[in-house]
Amino acid sequence: MLCNKFFIFFILAVISYNLYKRWWTWLKCKPNFTGKTVLITGGSSGIGEQLTKHVIELGAEKVVIAARNVKELERVKKECKYPDRVSILQMDLSKPQECLQLAQDFAKHTPIDILVNNGGLSMREEFINCDYTTCEYMMNTNCLSHIALVKAFLPSMITQKRQGQIVNILSISGIMGVPVRTMYCASKFAMDGFSKALRSEVAQYGITVTQVYPAYVQTNISKNAATGTAGESFGKVDENIGTGMPVEKAVDIISKAIYMRRPEVLVGKAFYWWITKLAFLSSTVNSIAGDIKYRSQLKVMQKAKEQ
Ligand SMILES: NC(=O)c1ccc[n+]([C@@H]2O[C@H](COP(=O)([O-])OP(=O)(O)OC[C@H]3O[C@@H](n4cnc5c(N)ncnc54)[C@H](OP(=O)(O)O)[C@@H]3O)[C@@H](O)[C@H]2O)c1
Repeated sequence: MLCNKFFIFFILAVISYNLYKRWWTWLKCKPNFTGKTVLITGGSSGIGEQLTKHVIELGAEKVVIAARNVKELERVKKECKYPDRVSILQMDLSKPQECLQLAQDFAKHTPIDILVNNGGLSMREEFINCDYTTCEYMMNTNCLSHIALVKAFLPSMITQKRQGQIVNILSISGIMGVPVRTMYCASKFAMDGFSKALRSEVAQYGITVTQVYPAYVQTNISKNAATGTAGESFGKVDENIGTGMPVEKAVDIISKAIYMRRPEVLVGKAFYWWITKLAFLSSTVNSIAGDIKYRSQLKVMQKAKEQ
């Protein structure tokens, strides 16, 4: 009996020590990207824009920013501390085949150390009201094009032997089902499964895969979110995003996770950490949280529409 108690105490002590060590190393970490070439999709706004500025300040040798809006990419480049280290790549993630071709051509002359699959869009509509075109658009933009970029850059990451990194900006909608985001969830869950499986395959080459799960971050995400009608955007900053984490703080966390090669990081309030862990452990918690979220998301959506 005494032996059992001692064993449990020993296990708890080891776990506590490791958690403390993990927390302390995280707290003390000062990210540094000296000499790195980084490609960030969705570099024209929000998380991608801020991450570009941050990694340049933290020493990155070259940052390639990709998105559709070249004017916005030019603005971001100008606002960076060292604009000459930033180059621009126009890319439409809704066209995976084109992205594959473009990235394969690009990889021939510019090897990438860190690929950040960040570009994408959310959704604000119930599935019943969604065109199938919107469904395809979401899967192409948030998932298939990112897979195409990994396909294009992975071979050179392997041959370069520079311990490449693949970073996928997912969402808590890639861990839990979030109503009025069905296709967003579908695309993020798909990327999550892809990344988790890929991680084990590429570890032998020293390549790491980091999954980032933001909760709510103050960006243009809800403004740019798809509605059910193809080509239409929600156009409003909803309450969840408006009161979310400042993008600077989110990017601080993301850059630390990249530098430390953490497999996964949740970016958001402690509440989201707990709820995603509980939902993962129990399908009942998952369903209850989904029902509560459904009612609250409808309210948030309605309120934003009335603004
Ligand atoms: N903000 C949040 O609360 C939150 C929460 C969870 C996950 N995330 C994830 O974080 C990532 C960045 O989002 P954000 O919050 O920074 O939103 P954002 O401010 O709306 O930025 C989205 C970026 O993606 C690019 N993009 C969208 N559609 C594209 C397309 N078809 N082709 C190429 N680029 C495209 C946009 O550039 P162009 O319009 O110029 O093409 C823009 O640079 C997304 O993957 C999102 O799912 C954000």
